[in-house]
Amino acid sequence: MHVIDAEKLSAAEAYALLVGTVVPRPIAWITTLDREGRVNAAPFSCYTFVCNRPPMLAVNLGRRDGALKDTARNIRQLESFVVNVVTEELIEPMHRSSFDYSEETSETALLDIALAPSRLVEPPRIAASPIALECRLRQILELGEQKNDLVIGEIVAFHVAEEIFACGRIDVHKFRPLARLGGPNYARLGEIITMPSKGAPRPA
Ligand SMILES: Cc1cc2nc3c(=O)[nH]c(=O)nc-3n(C[C@H](O)[C@H](O)[C@H](O)COP(=O)(O)O)c2cc1C
Repeated sequence: MHVIDAEKLSAAEAYALLVGTVVPRPIAWITTLDREGRVNAAPFSCYTFVCNRPPMLAVNLGRRDGALKDTARNIRQLESFVVNVVTEELIEPMHRSSFDYSEETSETALLDIALAPSRLVEPPRIAASPIALECRLRQILELGEQKNDLVIGEIVAFHVAEEIFACGRIDVHKFRPLARLGGPNYARLGEIITMPSKGAPRPA
């Protein structure tokens, strides 16, 4: 066993360990609007939900050479964003939207990513994403020496495609989310294992 003293790690060394350890991660493909009304899209896998009433999620946005990423700048300005869930078929445009484009470039226009209107927030959603979460900014926590922005958003509307929606739930056998692993690696869901719920009779 390697025992690593975390205090001695640089930001890059700690990052390498964290992104390989906290896996598999779901991917939030976030759409925002800039001041000129251009649509920005970028993926962020450091994300989870953090509250269910009201429903809230948190996404960690790092900085680029100390500067805010376009997504973080737009969320601060407009205080709203949409989390579009990434499925296997969306890997190509999602991955390409993570490249470092100038702030004037709209990834959705450049990559021909079709959009659909949101109901309650201004940024549109990605039409091909089977689940989109319209969010209003609740809070930003600046964490650490590099000032990562932990963005907490309240979900004000859920869009769920009919094909994967069943009795108020997401059908686990039909939804095919893509996961992020360490480095430039992704994974599909493997076999789904169902365990008995609490209180069910034990096998003899
Ligand atoms: C699958 C995937 C997951 C990513 N997750 C994160 C993340 O959690 N936090 C982050 O700051 N950057 C993450 N990135 C990098 C951003 O997508 C990248 O910096 C992007 O250029 C930001 O775009 P923007 O400046 O338009 O906001 C990820 C990239 C990929 C491909």
